[in-house]
Amino acid sequence: MYSTLFLLVACASQVWAHHILCVLPVPSRSHNHLAKGIVDSLLDAGHEVTWATPYPQKTTKKNLKQIDLSAAQKLTDGIDMSKDSNRKQGPAFVKTFSRNISTVVMESQELRDAVVNVQYDAVVTEWFFSDFEAGFAAVQKVPWILLSGVTMHPHMEMLLDEVRSIPTHPLMFHDFDVPMSLWERLTNSFVYGLMSISNWVDYYSDEAFYQAHFGPLAKARGQTLPPYSEALHNVSILLVNSDPSIDAPRSLPPNVVYVAGYHIEANPAPLPQDLQTLLDSSPKGVVYFSMGSVLKSSLFPEKFIRELLKVLGELPYTVLWKFEKELTGVPKNVHVRAWFPQASILAHPNIKVFITHGGLLSTLEATNAGVALLAVPVFGDQPSNAARAVRAGVARKVDFSYNMAEELKKELNEMLSNDKYQKRAKYVSKLFRNRPVAPSKLVSHYIEVAIESKGAYHLRSPSKLYAWYERWMLDQLAVLAAILYLIVKVLKTVLGAVKSKVVGSKKQKKS
Ligand SMILES: *[C@@H]1O[C@H](CO)[C@@H](O)[C@H](O)[C@H]1NC(C)=O
Ligand SMILES: *[C@@H]1O[C@H](CO)[C@@H](O)[C@H](O)[C@H]1NC(C)=O
Repeated sequence: MYSTLFLLVACASQVWAHHILCVLPVPSRSHNHLAKGIVDSLLDAGHEVTWATPYPQKTTKKNLKQIDLSAAQKLTDGIDMSKDSNRKQGPAFVKTFSRNISTVVMESQELRDAVVNVQYDAVVTEWFFSDFEAGFAAVQKVPWILLSGVTMHPHMEMLLDEVRSIPTHPLMFHDFDVPMSLWERLTNSFVYGLMSISNWVDYYSDEAFYQAHFGPLAKARGQTLPPYSEALHNVSILLVNSDPSIDAPRSLPPNVVYVAGYHIEANPAPLPQDLQTLLDSSPKGVVYFSMGSVLKSSLFPEKFIRELLKVLGELPYTVLWKFEKELTGVPKNVHVRAWFPQASILAHPNIKVFITHGGLLSTLEATNAGVALLAVPVFGDQPSNAARAVRAGVARKVDFSYNMAEELKKELNEMLSNDKYQKRAKYVSKLFRNRPVAPSKLVSHYIEVAIESKGAYHLRSPSKLYAWYERWMLDQLAVLAAILYLIVKVLKTVLGAVKSKVVGSKKQKKS
C-alpha cells in the first residue's frame, strides 16, 4: 500500500520536476548574483539544474550540478575600472570582451559533452552583447529562456517582437526624461540608426560563430543545426531585470516578464553580531559607502583617499565604507571593511544614505529597502541609472573623479539635512514591492510554463509572423491606393461619358 503511494508520489513529482541547463558565464560578481537568483528560484521550485558558471560554488546543493567556467574569470582580472581609459571604452571593447567570454564557454569540453549527451527540458542564458547563445536551445530543441540583466531595450524588442520604443523611450545610455523633446527624439533615432548598422554587421559574425560551434554539436546528436535566423527569434520567455516603478512603462508581449528584485532574498540573512550592534547603536543614522566590486577603491590615489576620509570623518553619523585594503588613520566614526552583507545592511532602519556607483543591482537593492542614494556613476548603465534615480527624487548625483571630495561633502550634507529623499525612497520602495507574487516565484513559474507548453507560443508576439512591410501596413496602403486609383479612373470615365452625352444631346437640339 505504502509502496504504491510512494510510487504514485514519485511519478507525480516526475511530471513536474524538470532539468534545466543554465549557461550564465559573464565573469562579474553582479551578473553572477543575477545568475544565482535564477538557479535558486528553480531549485526552490524542486527542479534539477545544471549551471555553467565562472564562479562554481564550493558547497553543492541537492539537484544542482555545476560546470566550471572559471577560465572566464581571467578575462575580468585584467580590467581595472578605476582607470579612465578603461571606463571610456566604447561598444567595440565590450563586444570583444563578450566574444572572449563566448570563446571560453564553447571551449569547455564538459559543457559541450553535456549539450550533446544530456537532454534538458529548457535552456536559460543571459543576453550580454551577443546572440549566439540561441544555439544551446536550438541544438537541444527545447524552450529558450533569455535573461536581460538590464531593462528592456530595442535589441530585445527586435529579438521577440518589433522595435516600438524608439519614438517614446530613451535608449539606456541617454539621460533623457519621458516624454522626450524633439531634439532628444532625433538624437535617440540617430543613435539607434547607428546601432542598427553595427548590429547588422555583428549578425554575420554571430551567425558564423553559431555555425562553427553548434554545427558539430548538432551533428554529434544526429541532427542538422537550424538556421541562425530561426534560432535567434525563438525566445520562449524573456525575463527582464526591471520594474515599472523604476522605468517608464512599455507595451510588451506577455512572454516578457518583469522580475526585478528576484535576486534579493525575501528575508535577508541576519547581520553579523558586531555589525548589528554597531548599526543598532547609531540612532542618528548610518551612511553606507560602497563602489561595488569592479571599481577597486584600493587603487584610488592616496591623496583622494585622505580627502574622502576627512569628509566622512566630519559627519556626525556612523559610516560604513567598503574598501578592499587596510587603511590607517581612519576616523572613529568610519568603519572600513573589504566586504559588507549589502542586502542586510540596507534593510537596517538606521541607514540614511547609500553612496553607490549606481550599478543596477545596488540601485535595485536600495529601491527594495527604501534607502536614498548619493550616486557616483562611473561607467556602463550607471550614469543613466543615477539620472533616473535623481529624476525619481530618491537620489542626488556627483560625477566620479579624484577631485570629487568637496562636491561629495556638499551633496551628502544636503541629503542628510533634508528628509525628502528618504521619504520619496520609502514611497518608491512601496510601489516596487507591491506585487501579488514575489518575483523569484515568477522566474520558476514562467520557465515551467515554457516547458509545459513546449515553447510558450501562446504568449509570444505575432509580429514575427509578418514581413516588415505588412507590419507597417504598407501592403494595405498599396491596396487602398489601387482601389482609390480605380475609383477615380472609373469616375473619370463615367463622368467623361455623361459629359459627352450631355454635350452631344445639346448639339443635337441646337441643330
Ligand atoms: C580578448 O582576447 C584577446 C585574445 O586573447 C585579447 O588580446 C584581448 O585583450 C581580449 N579583450 C578583452 C576586452 O577581453
Ligand atoms: C524553437 O523552440 C522550440 C521550443 O520552444 C523548439 O522545440 C524548437 O526546436 C526551436 N526551433 C528552433 C529553430 O530553434
